[in-house]
Amino acid sequence: FTVKVNEPVVAIQPTMWGVFFEDINFGADGGIYAEMVKNRSFEFSKPLMGWATKRKQEGDLLVLHRKEQTNNPRYLHLTARNAAQGDLELTNEGFRGMGVKKGLRYDLSFQYRQPATGITLHIALQNSKGEVIGSTVVKPADGDNQWHKQAVSFQATDTAVKGKLNIWLEGTGTIDVDMISLFPGDTWKNRPGGMRGDMVQLLADMKPGFIRFPGGCIVEGFDLSNRYQWKKTIGPVEERQLMINRWNVEFPHRSASDYFQTFGLGFFEYFQLAEDIGAEPLPILNCGMACQFNTAELVPMEDLQPYVQDALDLIEFANGDVTTQWGKVRASMGHPKPFHLKMMGVGNENWGPQYIERLKVFTKAIKEKYSDFKIVNSSGTDPDKDRFAYLNKELRSMNADIIDEHYYRAPEWFLANASRYDSYDRNGSKVFAGEYAAHSKGIGSNAGINVNNWRAALAEAAFMTGLERNAAVVNMASYAPLFANTDAWQWAPDLIWVNSLGVYGTADYHVQKLFSLNKGTKVLPLTWDGKAIAGQDSIYASACIDEKTKEVIFKIANVSAKPQNPVLQLEGIKSVATVAESIVVKGDLNDVNSLETPDKIAPQYATVAVKNKKVATTLAPYSFTIIKVKMQ
Ligand code: AHR
Repeated sequence: FTVKVNEPVVAIQPTMWGVFFEDINFGADGGIYAEMVKNRSFEFSKPLMGWATKRKQEGDLLVLHRKEQTNNPRYLHLTARNAAQGDLELTNEGFRGMGVKKGLRYDLSFQYRQPATGITLHIALQNSKGEVIGSTVVKPADGDNQWHKQAVSFQATDTAVKGKLNIWLEGTGTIDVDMISLFPGDTWKNRPGGMRGDMVQLLADMKPGFIRFPGGCIVEGFDLSNRYQWKKTIGPVEERQLMINRWNVEFPHRSASDYFQTFGLGFFEYFQLAEDIGAEPLPILNCGMACQFNTAELVPMEDLQPYVQDALDLIEFANGDVTTQWGKVRASMGHPKPFHLKMMGVGNENWGPQYIERLKVFTKAIKEKYSDFKIVNSSGTDPDKDRFAYLNKELRSMNADIIDEHYYRAPEWFLANASRYDSYDRNGSKVFAGEYAAHSKGIGSNAGINVNNWRAALAEAAFMTGLERNAAVVNMASYAPLFANTDAWQWAPDLIWVNSLGVYGTADYHVQKLFSLNKGTKVLPLTWDGKAIAGQDSIYASACIDEKTKEVIFKIANVSAKPQNPVLQLEGIKSVATVAESIVVKGDLNDVNSLETPDKIAPQYATVAVKNKKVATTLAPYSFTIIKVKMQ
C-alpha cells in the first residue's frame, strides 16, 4: 500500500465524526438525565404510574389539579391521621429500578404546601427486598399554605441495581406534594439536577465533532401536537410540560407504556453538554411535518410561520447577546455567553414535494437573517427509495448546504457501499451520514434480535474508511441510536448500553471512538496497485495526516478469515520515526460486549517497527487496525 504524504487530497472537517442523541430506549429519561424518580410530577397519563401507595382510609391520598398551573397541574393531597409507619406511604419504582451506590450522596427535593406544620416525612432508599439502604427524616418547614420547595441529602449504606424510594408520613394534618425528585450526588460536573456522569464520560472520551439532538422521530412526533418544541424545554424544570414519548410503543422485544419526556434534559442542557464535550451543537427542528406525514399530519403552508419563527428564535437563544429576547432567556438560565450555534437541521426523515415546499420557506427566512448559517436537509432516508433520488435532485438544485442520509442495513450493505461516495459531486452539497448502523442478528439467546456484534462493527469500520476517503463530500457522520437501557429498549443495535448503575461501550463504540480520536486533518491518497483500497482481497483502508500531531494515520479493516500482510509504504516525506503505534480491534464475528464482559471487544495498543519508511503489518483475521507513524 502506498501513501503519498506530500499530496494531501482534501481537508477533513473537525465535525467529521460526531454523535446522534435521541430520547429512545430510555436514552434521556431513565438514561442520561439522572433523575431517579419516574413520574415525579404525577403528570404521566396515569397520575400514579411508577408509584405504589398505601393509605389507611380512602381519601387519605388524592390526586388533585392546580387551577393556576397549566404545565404541571397535578399534585398529591395527603391526609395524615395520627399516622405511623405503614399508614400513609408512597413508593417509587424508578426507571426499571433505581441504581443506588453504597456511600454515595443522594439529593431529594419536593414541592409542598400545608396549612400548618406537624407532618414529618420519612425518606428511605430500599433494595429489591425492601431493606432500607439509606434514609433520612425531613419536616416540611412552612405552614402558610403557600407552595415551597425543600431539599435534603443523605447517604446510601448499600448498593442496589433495582432500588426504590419509599416515603412515609408521620403525624397529623394535610399536606400537598409535587415534583418529588431524587438525584445521585455524582452527576456530570456535579451539577444539581444534572446528567449521569458515567454516561457523559463515554461521550466525552469520544471527543465527538458534533452532537445532533434531540432526535430522530421524536422531533416529528406521532402527530404535530406530539412534536418536539424546544421552547417548552427551557426555563425552570418544574414548569416544563411533559409529553408522551414518540417511542412509547409496543415492540416485539420490549414494550414501553411508561415512556414520557419530562424535558428535564432540554435544549439549554443539550447546548451545555455540547459545550462541555467540545462538540458543535446540531439541533434538528420540526419542519411542519409529523412522523410518516402521509399517514400522520402536515401543517398547511399558511400556518407554517410559527415553526419558522421557532428556528429563528433558536438561533437567537443560542447566539444572541443578552439584550435580545432569547439571548436574555439563555442568560437567565446561567449562560450569558453564546453557544456559537453554526448549523441546524430542518426536518428529520421527511420527504416529498411537501418537504421541499416547507424547507424552502425555512431556508429563505434563516439565510436572510443569518447568511453564513448552515442548514442540514433530510434526504427522506432509505437510499434505495424513489423519494431519496427525488429529494437529492431537488436539494442539489437548491444548492443545499448539507444533505442528511440514513441507512440501517445488513453488514454486507456497508461493505458493498464503501465506495458509495466516490462518484458524488465534489463541488455540490455536502453529505451528513446522520444515522447509520449495521444490523446483524444475534445467536443463542439473542437469535432474531439485532446485536452489536463484531461483524456489524467491523463492517462499519470498513465503510467508514470510505467516508474518510470521501471527506471532500462527507463532512459529518454519526452512528444511531446512541444509548439504550438494557431493561427498556425499543430499538437495537445501539452504541452504548446502560442499566441503572452500569454502562459499557459496544464494539461499534470502539470503532466510532477510534475514528474520532484519529480523525486527522487531511486525507492522503492511499493506493494498492494504483487504486483506492475498498474491498480488494477483503481489505478496506484509508490514510490521513494529522498536521497538529505530525502523524500519518492508516486505518485498515480486514474483513476476511485469513491474516494479511500488506506493507505500508510512505512516499513524499524525508524521514519518519522508526517505531509506529498500532491499535488493533479484533474478535470473532459473533462476539458482543455486555455489562458482564464490557471489554470482550476492545482496542489493543502496541508498537510496530518502521524500516526505510515502510511498515510491515500483520492484519489479524476479522480485524480493524490503526497504524500511526510520526513524521520527522
Ligand atoms: O434511530 C432510530 C430512528 O431511526 C430515528 O428516530 C429515526 O430518525 C430513524 O428512522
